[in-house]
Amino acid sequence: MTMNQAPIVEADGLTRHYQVGRGLFKGSSTLKALDGVSFTLTAGRTFAVVGESGCGKSTLARLLTLIEPPTAGSLRVDGIQAARPGRGERRRLRRTVQMVFQDPYGSLNPRKKVGTILEEPLVINTDRTRKQRQETSREMMALVGLRPEHYRRYPHMFSGGQRQRIAIARALMLRPRVVVADEPVSALDVSVQAQVLNLMMDLREQMNLAYVFISHDLSVVRHIADELLVMYLGRPAEQGPKEAIFTHPRHPYTQVLLAATPSVDPSRRQQRVSVKGELPSPLDPPPGCVFHRRCPFARERCAAEVPALRPVDGRGVACHFAEEM
Ligand SMILES: Nc1ncnc2c1ncn2[C@@H]1O[C@H](COP(=O)(O)OP(=O)(O)OP(=O)(O)O)[C@@H](O)[C@H]1O
Ligand SMILES: [Mg+2]
Repeated sequence: MTMNQAPIVEADGLTRHYQVGRGLFKGSSTLKALDGVSFTLTAGRTFAVVGESGCGKSTLARLLTLIEPPTAGSLRVDGIQAARPGRGERRRLRRTVQMVFQDPYGSLNPRKKVGTILEEPLVINTDRTRKQRQETSREMMALVGLRPEHYRRYPHMFSGGQRQRIAIARALMLRPRVVVADEPVSALDVSVQAQVLNLMMDLREQMNLAYVFISHDLSVVRHIADELLVMYLGRPAEQGPKEAIFTHPRHPYTQVLLAATPSVDPSRRQQRVSVKGELPSPLDPPPGCVFHRRCPFARERCAAEVPALRPVDGRGVACHFAEEM
């Protein structure tokens, strides 16, 4: 297969701020849900996004799938300007980028049979005949490991893992080039997680897909990721090749996350780093480095100066003291 190495996704400084009210008569303030995320992604590769609840992962997913526009920054998908697409561009991109959600129960309509669920995107976006649609859905069902007789069954007749296979098949019906998966295995039993992850990796290979794979759990992205973005309070903390980051995390927050990941080989874990205090409110982020109040290594400079994401040891790190970590 010839690989097209031109990036399929190019995000530059993607930002999403929300104006939120602070209660009666108090006016509004700015919540920086996502602040300056940049990356490129090529076919056949996986960009993984990791961080605690509220760090902006789903916000990034909504920008990438055009559910909402960024408040700043630029986005190109398949060479098309996608931050504020026109009607024609939006139409094309709707087929190029598809999404898989966390909840395999809520995301499938319980009143529709699997065949109908799968063929819906084709009904809406293409003029294929009924027979062609059926052919495509049977093909896709086989690809994700569903049996032909599943075609006429309802979602409630399936396990969580099977439902996620249905959701994945539906996302692939339009032959997208990019799949944004927001915590696709987080609702599944650990034993089933590996099966779905393996399936996703096989499909990436077979269909030359590019993945943006979102998870709060580093152990989940360990095998599937090529590039890794660790986010904290809407901002990139560390970003680069997975191997470099897992081998030697350079941001104290990444070290904390890794230390809390049980499946990571203990001999490769750093000395146990633990985090103190609560996650700060994104409405009132700390000055300087947003992580400094919880950081075991924080010094005076950290409270005063925002660290830029800068290249250190083969990846980007937003820490003033990354070289010493
Ligand atoms: N429409 C909105 N209006 C105001 N604030 C929002 C909106 N959507 C998200 N936020 C806020 O933006 C921040 C990031 O939310 P987001 O859902 O992207 O986090 P997440 O990393 O996906 O979290 P989780 O792991 O819990 O899914 C949170 O503080 C959230 O409350
Ligand atoms: Mg989320």
